[in-house]
Amino acid sequence: MSTNQHIQHLPLTPLLHPWIKELIGHPELLLSAIEEHGSPINVHSLAPFGENIQAYQEVFQKFGLKYKIFFARKANKCIVFPLAASKQGQGADTASFRELKQCLDAGIAPKDLILTAAVKNRQLLELAVEHQITVVLDNMDEWDLLQQIVRDKQKEITVNVRLGSFHFEGKTLPTRFGFTSEEAFLFIQKIRKEEPLLRFSGLHFHLNGYSVEQRVTAIEQSLELIDRLYEQGINTESLDIGGGFLMNYLSDKFEWENFHRELKRAVLDEREPITYQNDALGMIKLNNQLYGEPTVYPYYNELHKTDFLKSILTSISSTQQQPLFELLRKRNIELRMEPGRSLLDQCGITVAKVAFRKKDSDGNWLFGLEMNRTQLRSSSADFLLDPIHIPQTENLENTDYCEGYLVGSYCLEQELILKRKLAFSQFPQVGDLLIFPNTAGYMMHFFESEAHLFELAKNLVVVGNVLYFCDGLKI
Ligand SMILES: Cc1ncc(COP(=O)(O)O)c(C=O)c1O
Repeated sequence: MSTNQHIQHLPLTPLLHPWIKELIGHPELLLSAIEEHGSPINVHSLAPFGENIQAYQEVFQKFGLKYKIFFARKANKCIVFPLAASKQGQGADTASFRELKQCLDAGIAPKDLILTAAVKNRQLLELAVEHQITVVLDNMDEWDLLQQIVRDKQKEITVNVRLGSFHFEGKTLPTRFGFTSEEAFLFIQKIRKEEPLLRFSGLHFHLNGYSVEQRVTAIEQSLELIDRLYEQGINTESLDIGGGFLMNYLSDKFEWENFHRELKRAVLDEREPITYQNDALGMIKLNNQLYGEPTVYPYYNELHKTDFLKSILTSISSTQQQPLFELLRKRNIELRMEPGRSLLDQCGITVAKVAFRKKDSDGNWLFGLEMNRTQLRSSSADFLLDPIHIPQTENLENTDYCEGYLVGSYCLEQELILKRKLAFSQFPQVGDLLIFPNTAGYMMHFFESEAHLFELAKNLVVVGNVLYFCDGLKI
C-alpha cells in the first residue's frame, strides 16, 4: 500500500524491483525481523546487484572494450556486495583500511581490489603493499610514504595516478583531488626513473556530479596524456573513470516536475507548505525571489545507468572526431569504472516501526519512528521517494486519509526522517511499518551515527523468503 494510494497529493512513486513487491506481500517476515533485530532494519537483495553488473558488462562487450568494474563499497558497508562483485569476475574499490582488510579477509583476490582512499596512512599503504593491491596515488606525500614502504619491505606494487583539474568550457573543473595532466606527465616519468619497485599501470579520475559532457572531456584529456606518455615509451594499460553513473528512482516524470513546481510555489507562499516548516530544500529565498535549485539528488532520470555509460562511450571526441569507445579500443586500454550507487539500484530497503502519533504546535500530524534520520541520509537535502505504509493489522474501518511528517528519535527539532509532507490512505497506528525503498546506495550507511547510544541498524539479506543477518563477513 503506497502512502499516496488514491490520493492526488504530489506523490513521488518509487520504482520497485520484484523482490521488494514480494516482501511487501509478506509483512510478517519484516515484523518478525524487527522483533528480533530492533527497528529499523536494512534488508538487501543480491539479485538486482548481479543484474546491474551484468548490464554494464554487456555494454562493454557490445563495444568490444576490455573492462573491469570495481564496486565502490563506500556506498554500502555490507561485505556481501564486494563478494558478489568478485564472484561475477569484477571487483571492489576500497576507501579505508577496514574496507580493504575486510575484503581481503573475505577471500577477495588482490587483483580484484583497488585502493582509492582519500587519506592513505602508513597502516593502510602497508596493507596494500603486503597484498599487492593497486594504489591510486593522489598527491606527492602519498608517493613519498609508499616509496618508503616498498623500499623497507623490498616489495613491488602497481600504482595508478589520479587526474583532476580537467578543462571544461573554458574553465578548470574545481576539485581537491588528483594531479593536473602536466603534473601527472612529469610525475609518471619520475616514477619510472626513480622507483623500480613502483609500476605505473593506469590513470584514474572520479568527477563530482553527473555530467556526461564532463566525463567525455575528462576521457579526451586522459587520452591525450596517454598518447604523450606513449611517445616517452610509457604504456598506460587502463583508464578508470570512477563512479557517478546516474540512476533512476522514480516511475513518473510528471510527478517529479510537479513536485518541484509546487515546492517553489509553496516556498513563495503561493500554496500551503509541502515540506516541514516550508523547508526550501536548499533554495534561497530573498525579497520574495527564489535563487538556486533544490540541493537534492536528481531522483528522476531518463538517461541512467547503462544508457548513461553508452552515451559517454558513443560521444564523438571533439579533437579526434571519433567515438570514445573507438579511441579506447584502438589503444587497447582497459576501461575501468567504480560505480557505487548505480550498482546498488534496487538492492535494499529500510524498514522502521511506528512508535507514536502526535501533533506539533502548528497542528501538523507527526508520526514518530523507531529510527533516526542518520539512518536514511545522504548529501541530498531530502530523500524524495514515497515510503510504503504497511499497517500491522488489516483494519478495514481505518480508511482515514491523513497528511503528516515522519520524525525520528534524536532530540533535535530538525529530526525529520523525511522533510516532505506525506499522505496516508490509512491513519498510521503504533506498530505499523514504514518501508523506504531503494536505500542501499548511501542512504543506509553513509551518515549513520550512534548518538544517544542508539544501536546502528542491523543489516539483513533476503534469500528466497528467509532473511539472514549479514553484518559479519558472510551470510
Ligand atoms: C573515487 C571514487 N570512486 C567511486 C565513487 C562512487 O561514486 P557513485 O556512488 O556516485 O557511483 C566515489 C564516490 O564518492 C569516489 O569518490
